[in-house]
Amino acid sequence: MLSPSKLPSCPSSRVAVIGSGNVGSTLAQRLAEKNIADVVLLDVIAGRPQGLALDLLEARGVERHNRQILGTNNYADTINSDVIVITAGVPRKPGMSRDDLLKINAKIVTDVMRQAIAHSPHAVVIVVTNPLDVMTYLAWQVSGLPAHQVMGMAGVLDSARFQTFVAMELGVSIADINATVMGGHGDLMVPLPRYTTVSGIPITELMDRTTIERLVERTRNGGAEIVELMQTGSAYFAPASSVALMVESILFNQVRLLPVAAYLQGQYGLKDIFVGVPCRLGCRGVETVLEIQLSDSELADLHASARSVRQNIDRAQQLLAETNANV
Ligand code: NAI
Ligand code: 2OP
Repeated sequence: MLSPSKLPSCPSSRVAVIGSGNVGSTLAQRLAEKNIADVVLLDVIAGRPQGLALDLLEARGVERHNRQILGTNNYADTINSDVIVITAGVPRKPGMSRDDLLKINAKIVTDVMRQAIAHSPHAVVIVVTNPLDVMTYLAWQVSGLPAHQVMGMAGVLDSARFQTFVAMELGVSIADINATVMGGHGDLMVPLPRYTTVSGIPITELMDRTTIERLVERTRNGGAEIVELMQTGSAYFAPASSVALMVESILFNQVRLLPVAAYLQGQYGLKDIFVGVPCRLGCRGVETVLEIQLSDSELADLHASARSVRQNIDRAQQLLAETNANV
């Protein structure tokens, strides 16, 4: 008989997913079922991460993988995670102002970052909570980590949406499409048609300007389109897939070139801000920020998007300071 204690115990990559809502739980499923990493799911709601983890463990009987999934409300269980993904937060509800959302999520993200990093001081951090670029900045500030170890997920998702709309328009396989979307994760994001290709052919050679503009607008509106259809909640399948791709590139040191919200120190003429740019993602996190050639109007769009992110960072810091002063 083989007893559990006789089973070999080998070190395995571990991802702490903070926030076990729609994105967090779907991400846990992707990471385990694609055999990318063991997962610790954490949430403030008692029982929820434990129930989800048990459900995912039971699925192993059918999916036939050996990944460990632990559900918890205790940060001590996330100890020595290689990657921390922050999906904790609240969605914007009817009647809630942008400032209300900024204030609540800023408090949540900074609280969970402090606790998570205390138990995994060497982790690479991926932020998902919205408003994405602002929350990534705040998480980095409180983490005390070098900037290359902290990033936000949005560009992979926004590019995947652009790819989807191009594939639907041209009636070609999505496997042949590569898209690039830069900038903040908001109305001012910057999809780049010149750098969006079908089997290497830029879409500017395949579609007229009006069609491209329509697809660009749909991409910018991609999150809102799904919220409008679902009425309760926002997208989570494509967001979870996007985070899983980033985690895989980091843990397996694949050095994929992906658009992520990264800290800029002069690249593209931007400083002290997190915003979506193409990066090489490897075991150290953001290995390099790639500076591609942008036209004057593309660069102006990127700067407009960054200005809006900067305004929201300043506002979030002000709101956090007021909250802390009132405690
Ligand atoms: P959700 O509401 O399903 O899940 C959020 C979870 O966070 C809940 O389970 C909640 O209990 C938990 N939570 C709240 N405060 C917490 C705390 N202090 N500690 C631990 N857990 C806490 O939301 P969903 O759909 O999973 O989205 C999560 C976040 O990700 C939202 O801010 C959403 O806007 C954002 N998002 C960002 C995307 C991107 O491209 N960056 C894409 C999709 C979602
Ligand atoms: C999205 O783009 C809500 O940011 C989220 O779907």
